[in-house]
Amino acid sequence: MMNFERQTTRRLHEEHVAVVDLLGRFEQAMVGYRDPPLVGDDQWRSIARDLGAGIRGEIEHHFDFEEQSLFPRLEASGDGTIVQILSDEHSIIRQVASELGGLLQISLSEQFEGAEWRTLKMLGFEYVERMISHIQKEEMALLPALENILGDDDDAELVLDYAG
Ligand SMILES: [Fe+2]
Ligand SMILES: [Fe+2]
Repeated sequence: MMNFERQTTRRLHEEHVAVVDLLGRFEQAMVGYRDPPLVGDDQWRSIARDLGAGIRGEIEHHFDFEEQSLFPRLEASGDGTIVQILSDEHSIIRQVASELGGLLQISLSEQFEGAEWRTLKMLGFEYVERMISHIQKEEMALLPALENILGDDDDAELVLDYAG
């Protein structure tokens, strides 16, 4: 695992690690149900809530920050190609996330039948795969490039901004 020197890159890296962990738990949960989980199943409710909250909360915040505060800096320093790839991935992931988030929410109050459960699983696996591949790209390309272009002041300002 890479070591990052900047606060901003460390913070993003920590979030990537946390998201990969959440995605792993979500994938495990999906694999564990042959039949649709019962609407009152606590284990399902807990992971569906966690992922749903992640999609609407930290993950959304993280994407916004990358797009608004980091991608323009990278573009300005000549890393436009990677920015284009990562931005395109964000918009696809956002689309999958919004459909998946909607289904997760419904699964908390309505009993899913086979077809709905299969749709949820299909979207769920797609989300997991796309996110993991996106995070790997950012760990390999985005964070190292940022390490090279962020000065001390920039870094301090960005990490404060991000904290809110
Ligand atoms: Fe990203
Ligand atoms: Fe990221």
